[in-house]
Amino acid sequence: MPNVTWLSHSVIQIDTAGTTLLVDPFLTGNPKATLGPDDIDPDVILVSHGHGDHIGDTIPMAKRTGCLTIANFEIVGWLEQQGLENLRPMHIGGGADFDWGRVKLTNALHGSVLPDGTYGGNPCGFLFTVEGKKIYHACDTGLFYDMKLIGEEGVDLAILPIGDNFTMGPDDALRAVKLLEPKQVLPIHYDTFDIIEQDPVSWKERVEGETGAKVMVLKPGENMEV
Ligand code: NI
Ligand code: MN
Repeated sequence: MPNVTWLSHSVIQIDTAGTTLLVDPFLTGNPKATLGPDDIDPDVILVSHGHGDHIGDTIPMAKRTGCLTIANFEIVGWLEQQGLENLRPMHIGGGADFDWGRVKLTNALHGSVLPDGTYGGNPCGFLFTVEGKKIYHACDTGLFYDMKLIGEEGVDLAILPIGDNFTMGPDDALRAVKLLEPKQVLPIHYDTFDIIEQDPVSWKERVEGETGAKVMVLKPGENMEV
């Protein structure tokens, strides 16, 4: 079974059949991160959008490990200019099969400028199919009704921001759970900074009271099975 580690903020590590996938590796400068960029050797890094709290340590980690980096076409072009070589451009609505499973890029309602001001294209989320399980990482997004279409695929785990201010807050994240109907939910993108402080335990009680989903509240560095 795939194992999912929450490394704080939007940083998600998925270990599946000997492969380590790492989404949005913001570790340096992240006040809640329990690991640094030299502590993980990902096989694949996936970047949802250009903001610094998501692209994070992608460049040094990819250069050190030589891992594959997946992002949209615009971000891949920028990473190539920064000297990365092992790159896979994709875009929203497109999926691809790899030896570790499948990933499809999904909509996300957000912005995506890169740290130097370069246009980063549209932000995205990721729908993974690994070991027969569907894992949806919404990344940074507001609520959108097409989450219902993602839910129709049969989501085992939905990873949803609840921090408010920059992304969905608790109320809209609850509505997202109702659209997605996942078996399990992992709340993320909260408590990293003062302006996104939330109470995940009271959110868990609301979600489990109003939906059939089980909410996993993790501490940074903790993991769960899907
Ligand atoms: Ni962002
Ligand atoms: Mn963010």
